Amino acid sequence: MATRIEAVVGGTVVEDLLLKVFTHDLRPGYVRVYPQGKTAKFSGKGYLMPVGYAAFAASIQELESRPDDVWVASFPKCGTTWTQEMVWCICNDLNFEHAKSIAIRLRFPFVENSSLSNSRELGDENSPVYKYSWDSVKYTSDLPSPRFIKTHLPLNLLPDQVKSKKPKIVCVARNPKDTCVSYYHHCILLEGYKGTLSEFVTLFLEDTVAYGPYWDNVLSYWEHKDDSNILFLTYEEMKKDLPSVIFKVCKFMNKKLPSDEELKALCDHLSFDSMKTNDAVNYEHYVEKRRTFPDQHFMRKGKTNSWKEEMSAEDVKRFDDWIENSLKKLDAEAREFFQNWLNYDRM
Ligand code: PPS
Repeated sequence: MATRIEAVVGGTVVEDLLLKVFTHDLRPGYVRVYPQGKTAKFSGKGYLMPVGYAAFAASIQELESRPDDVWVASFPKCGTTWTQEMVWCICNDLNFEHAKSIAIRLRFPFVENSSLSNSRELGDENSPVYKYSWDSVKYTSDLPSPRFIKTHLPLNLLPDQVKSKKPKIVCVARNPKDTCVSYYHHCILLEGYKGTLSEFVTLFLEDTVAYGPYWDNVLSYWEHKDDSNILFLTYEEMKKDLPSVIFKVCKFMNKKLPSDEELKALCDHLSFDSMKTNDAVNYEHYVEKRRTFPDQHFMRKGKTNSWKEEMSAEDVKRFDDWIENSLKKLDAEAREFFQNWLNYDRM
């Protein structure tokens, strides 16, 4: 059955809030997306996407998939860029100089990028940046193999051929509270969000931020974590023990394990401080045009549990209740995994 896409027209408190605080010229509205015509399993809702997604949905679904494609998939703000850089370096013989010489969006394109807003690059129509900006799906389609592809879409909205061609997919998930706070800052800085953090928490918990519902998106990959072509990681394990994650990714990619010296060089390259000053990955070209006060950066804090510094007690309570109720709805295996991962003991 084909994907169904419906406009978000408002009329509920949360949709009215979304349309009030998070629409503008470059993103005039939103749609709910139903892969294969169905609601998402966990929430019973459709996935929320900016309205521009409707124009790219078919070409994403029909994108030719190749067995040697490498995907990094995640809900937004879960450590995607960090994971992309790790995967790219492992798959490219730790060629850091090459990595620093090409912007990550061009060597590891975000396939649905053009669907997020009407903002487009002007200038030389033949430049890679121009082509990527106007049609990120075609840009991705035209790349030679092996391709590296970023997405925030859930597994069931990836191109149809992903099922049969089985490219490698590295997924990364992050504690929802940190994800939400990071996403809020991202939306303020880069996506024209005009509301408060507390309003953003409401949108997040009501599955009304782009790529939500959070649980459905994360679970779409987690449920396939034992498939041979899928590796499921968490931001928290990368923070705790990056070398172990690097070994896991090398094995998954069938790459030789790094020597001690190589491992150290890779960990240095992937450190927060190093990525923060690396123009190939810090999106500074993009941020500098939109920054409204000096301390705004794509590489913002890079910490676990930084929600504690920003979320009000009332919002923390709302989040905890939401997590508790969500975990209750999971089957035993999933509940154990997510409870342990989130270090969550309120059940
Ligand atoms: S995006 O826009 O959705 O692709 O963003 P994404 O890359 O998924 O997430 C951005 C957050 O990841 C943090 N980050 C890092 N943390 C630790 N170490 C490294 N090297 C690193 N690189 C990126 C980044 O700072 C964002 O998190 P917050 O909490 O906002 O700082």
